[in-house]
Amino acid sequence: MNRISVGRFSNFEINTPVAVKVENVDLVVTRYGEREVSVLFGKCRHHDRVAEGQIKDETLICPDKDCKFHVDSGVTEKGDSENLKKFSHQIKFDYILVDPEEIRSWYESKEK
Ligand code: FES
Repeated sequence: MNRISVGRFSNFEINTPVAVKVENVDLVVTRYGEREVSVLFGKCRHHDRVAEGQIKDETLICPDKDCKFHVDSGVTEKGDSENLKKFSHQIKFDYILVDPEEIRSWYESKEK
């Protein structure tokens, strides 16, 4: 598995979602604690700019419509079909690493 970096952990501000593209797939990467990071799909049902949302109490709140997702899991109370896909990651030598193959294969299967 060849993981790639989406940025340096120490450059991420706590509770500030950041938009990242991997394999041309929009992601939102959030540092929400001293060592906690989440990597979620960056497009929700109503909005393409999840990364412009806010974090409050480990909840990612979408920009316009107040839809809420648990920042770690991507789960929302609105039902499974609305959840944001969570992707695996590692923090190694201050870099947040993701698996581009995992992201690409999930996105391709979603588009079928
Ligand atoms: S605004 Fe993002 S799911 Fe509704």
